[in-house]
Amino acid sequence: MYKILETKQLAKEIKLFVVDAPRVAKACKPGQFIILKINEQGERIPLTIYDYNVGQGTISIIFQEVGKTTRQLGKLKAGDEIQDFVGPLGKPIEVNDSHKRIICVGGGVGVAPVYPKARALKNSGAEVISIIGARSKDLIILEEEMKAVSNELYVCTDDGSYGEHGFVTQVLEKLLPIKTPDLVIAIGPLPMMRACCQATKKFNVPTLVSLNSIMVDGTGMCGSCRVTIGGETKFACVDGPTFDGHLVDFNELMLRQVRFVEEEKVALQRYEKMEGVKENGSCCCKSR
Ligand SMILES: Cc1cc2nc3c(=O)[nH]c(=O)nc-3n(C[C@H](O)[C@H](O)[C@H](O)COP(=O)(O)OP(=O)(O)OC[C@H]3O[C@@H](n4cnc5c(N)ncnc54)[C@H](O)[C@@H]3O)c2cc1C
Ligand code: FES
Repeated sequence: MYKILETKQLAKEIKLFVVDAPRVAKACKPGQFIILKINEQGERIPLTIYDYNVGQGTISIIFQEVGKTTRQLGKLKAGDEIQDFVGPLGKPIEVNDSHKRIICVGGGVGVAPVYPKARALKNSGAEVISIIGARSKDLIILEEEMKAVSNELYVCTDDGSYGEHGFVTQVLEKLLPIKTPDLVIAIGPLPMMRACCQATKKFNVPTLVSLNSIMVDGTGMCGSCRVTIGGETKFACVDGPTFDGHLVDFNELMLRQVRFVEEEKVALQRYEKMEGVKENGSCCCKSR
């Protein structure tokens, strides 16, 4: 069992958990992820390692409550335990001194996986320019943390309620010809990552994206996270999750990403009904 030591609400429906997981903390590197299962009946879900502390033996994760499991996770408090917390999984990001100027782009909760990469690259001596964005001001996360690991930080919101008005891709398009980066890292929703790759392709700037394909075992055995990269089949859990964005077949990934939408809807409805029964002490028909 893995104890939750601390919880923090970062934005509406986005939480940070610090989890006691010394063996994972000892082995992990930026860019890797864990797969957790809340309890015996739970579903396995992957979450990026946002931060780790080897001395304290802790792993920090940040998650957005989008469906049944993440909502259930969001109900847990400090002192509660998670049954399985497997990791570190996936390939870490390569950090070397070949990159001098990097633009890091994070959209929505995608800022969480961008942060450890930006920090590692900044620590390696690179100049890091970051762009973070969300739908509105109340959904912006990790602004101070990103500022601390960036030479320049641009913040934008889709509705203009904070920072620049518009999408992260628009800021990226403006910066590409001026800053001439030698690498772009873009993490967020699939349409955002695809748009970033289309922009960087025009300038021939190598671009890394982190693919959030649906994972089950996380060991390359089940095939669920299959993606096509440069015409070849890869498994995001063991070959990624970071890939050359210019080679990703985004259309295929988008189709594969929605293949369980009906089941996900039913699972969430069942869960919310059960929670409603617990909170009201009776089911909705009896309370009428
Ligand atoms: C390597 C990796 C790292 C990730 N890191 C983060 C992170 O740091 N923070 C964060 O908020 N989210 C992260 N995700 C996405 C997260 O795993 C999903 O939001 C979560 O699984 C949703 O589960 P649910 O039951 O709450 O929602 P559901 O209603 O079951 O699903 C909502 C959507 O989430 C995706 N999803 C569902 N199940 C899985 C699964 N087993 N594996 C991958 N995606 C799934 C699908 O696109 C689905 O349509 C990551 C995904 C991957 C692959
Ligand atoms: S999650 Fe099963 S092969 Fe990647």
